[in-house]
This record gives sequence, structure tokens and C-alpha cells, in this order.
Amino acid sequence: MSQADSQKKGDILFVGIDLGTSRSSISASNGTREWTESFVGWPKDFISQKILGKAVLFGADALEHRLSLDLCRPLEHGVIKEGIEKSEDAVKEIIRHLIDLAKPASGQKIHAVVGVPADTLKVNKLAIRRAVTEFVQSLLVVSEPFAVAYSLDLLNNALVIDIGAGTTDFCIMHGTIPSEEDQKTILAAGDYIDDQLYSYLAEKYPNSRFNKNMVRQFKEEFSFVREIPGDMQVEIPVGGKPVMHDIKNEVKRACESILPAIVETTTEMIARFDPEFQIKIKNNIVLAGGGSLIRGLREYLQDSLKEYGPCRVTSVEDPLFAGSDGALKLALDMPSKYWEQL
Ligand SMILES: Nc1ncnc2c1ncn2[C@@H]1O[C@H](COP(=O)(O)OP(=O)(O)OP(=O)(O)O)[C@@H](O)[C@H]1O
Ligand SMILES: [Mg+2]
Repeated sequence: MSQADSQKKGDILFVGIDLGTSRSSISASNGTREWTESFVGWPKDFISQKILGKAVLFGADALEHRLSLDLCRPLEHGVIKEGIEKSEDAVKEIIRHLIDLAKPASGQKIHAVVGVPADTLKVNKLAIRRAVTEFVQSLLVVSEPFAVAYSLDLLNNALVIDIGAGTTDFCIMHGTIPSEEDQKTILAAGDYIDDQLYSYLAEKYPNSRFNKNMVRQFKEEFSFVREIPGDMQVEIPVGGKPVMHDIKNEVKRACESILPAIVETTTEMIARFDPEFQIKIKNNIVLAGGGSLIRGLREYLQDSLKEYGPCRVTSVEDPLFAGSDGALKLALDMPSKYWEQL
């Protein structure tokens, strides 16, 4: 019986999961699409458990109550922190939570394709298998950018650049399942921008009180590269009073800090192919991930790569679900020999 036949019978729920550093999402064959921030928190003691009334909290809920929780962000830099039992438990909770959100019918088996950052596929594969065995019957772990490419039907002569929180993942598609050398991961991504912005602001406004979380929100609201009209002011407390702060220059510098590494890696990866393919790939570059929302980034990349001939860069429409949609599509299409039975 093929995968599609068993799905028709309804005894299997196929799910695609994008396990991200900052956000994780699920797309399921019953039509659900859900996401959560990749934070897990366990109440610190019985008082906090009593107050919170839950054994585990996720995402924004966990962040809000962080003072009473043991908080874990298990995928920092795209790798399940090895040797730390807590982070494997956290991954397990995230996947369990996502599958709950997808509302499988009772008794339905789960066949899951899980997307993880490209470079860490090997390390993460084992950890993910341990994390999902309890509730998944059949598993396939793929690289995130491959899942994105698959969701867009970009299977030949294309380059996907997935700018996430912990990592930026590159994947060249040339008509086969991408091998290790078709993929590359660098750390110039969202978290890096946040670190830069935090230190620029701390330097400019030493007496103002703000934290990393606020800085990430400033970035998400204002992010841009190159030029953009208008002021950028945010409210930050100084000596207990809210004061408006100009952050435009700092946002620009922080966002632009990831550009050199992205341009360099893009050029490097394309240069490995012969000239005929280089032209095709350069005309089919796709940006995905939350970082693709930075204003002016697509145009900047396209212009810098044009120096060496024609080039076309586009962005995915739905950066939050492109990975999990692709993973679901893979789940529905993959012949059974690729699956691992758990
Ligand atoms: N409008 C925006 N401008 C700039 N950055 C943004 C914007 N919206 C979200 N981001 C950033 O995108 C990142 C999250 O993107 P995404 O969900 O693709 O990452 P992830 O999949 O969790 O991470 P990774 O792929 O590294 O595991 C965060 O750093 C977030 O701050
Ligand atoms: Mg991602």
C-alpha cells in the first residue's frame, strides 16, 4: 500500500515539522498549520507549579512567566545542545506540543518529516529520533532549506537561502536530493543581529534599561538595510521614566552586519558549478526564514550579485510555514524506503 493510499484510509496523519531556533511550526495532512516559539519552561518548584497550573509551558507563555520557570531554548545555533538531557526533553515537549496542536484523530498513526538546519543534520538526527519515538511511528529527518525548496517546487537549478534566528542555511538544488556539499550553514542570522543591536544601543544609551527580548522586538518592527525614509523612535525607560530613543542608525548597522557573510557564501557556493549552471542558479535565488523580512535585503543581494552578470532574487510569501509545508509535501510524496520505522 502506498503512503497516499493509507492516508486516504485516514489511519495515518502525515505531518511536516520545521524545528527552528526561535520558532517551530507544523503542517499536517488534515489541514492544520500551527506554530510555537521554541521555548520550553518547567515550573521551578511546587509553588510555581501551583500558580501556573501546568507542568510545561511553551513559547510566549513560557517567556512571560520566565521568573518562575526553568527555561530552555534547546536549539540555540541550530544544534540540539548535546549532552544536556534537558534540551532533548525540551525538543520532545515541543514536538509533542506541535503534534497536539495538529489534532490527530484518536488512534491515528503519525508519520513525520522533520526539518533541521543543514550542517547539523547528523548530530540532530539521533537526538530527534530519541525525542519522537514515543509518539511518531515513522520518521524522516531532512535539512530545512531542502524542505523549503521542495515546498516551492524548486528542485532544479536554484539556491535557497533560509535566514533564521540561529543560522542562515544555504542549499543548492540541482535535480537530486541535496548532498552535504550542496549545503552550508553560517551563524550570520537573526540572533547575531540582535546581539549587535543590543551592544550598539548599550553603547549609545548607557543609562537606559532594556533587554535582549525588547531589542529583538525593535528589530522585528524596524529592520532594514540601505536607506529608508522616516524616523525610528522607541520608548525605553531611563531612571524609571519612559523616554523616546532614536535607534535608526543602530538598526541599520545591525541588519547590515550579516550582509558580507551572506554575499560571500552565496558567491562561493555558486562558483563551484560550471558557468552554464551558474547563470541558471543566479537567476533563481530564493530567500526564506524570518530574516527575509528585512526591508531592502532582497534588493541589496540582487544588486551585489549583479556585479558578475544577471541575477534574480525573490522572497517566499510565507516565511513562517514554508519549511513545514515543504516537509509535509515531502511526507506525502516520499516512497516508503526512505522512511525510518520507529
Ligand atoms: N520583520 C523582521 N525583520 C527582521 N527579522 C525578523 C523579522 N521577523 C522575524 N525576524 C527574525 O527572524 C528570525 C526567526 O526566523 P525563523 O522563524 O525563520 O527562524 P528559525 O527557523 O526559528 O531559526 P533557524 O532556522 O535558525 O533554526 C528571528 O531572529 C526573528 O527575530
Ligand atoms: Mg528555520
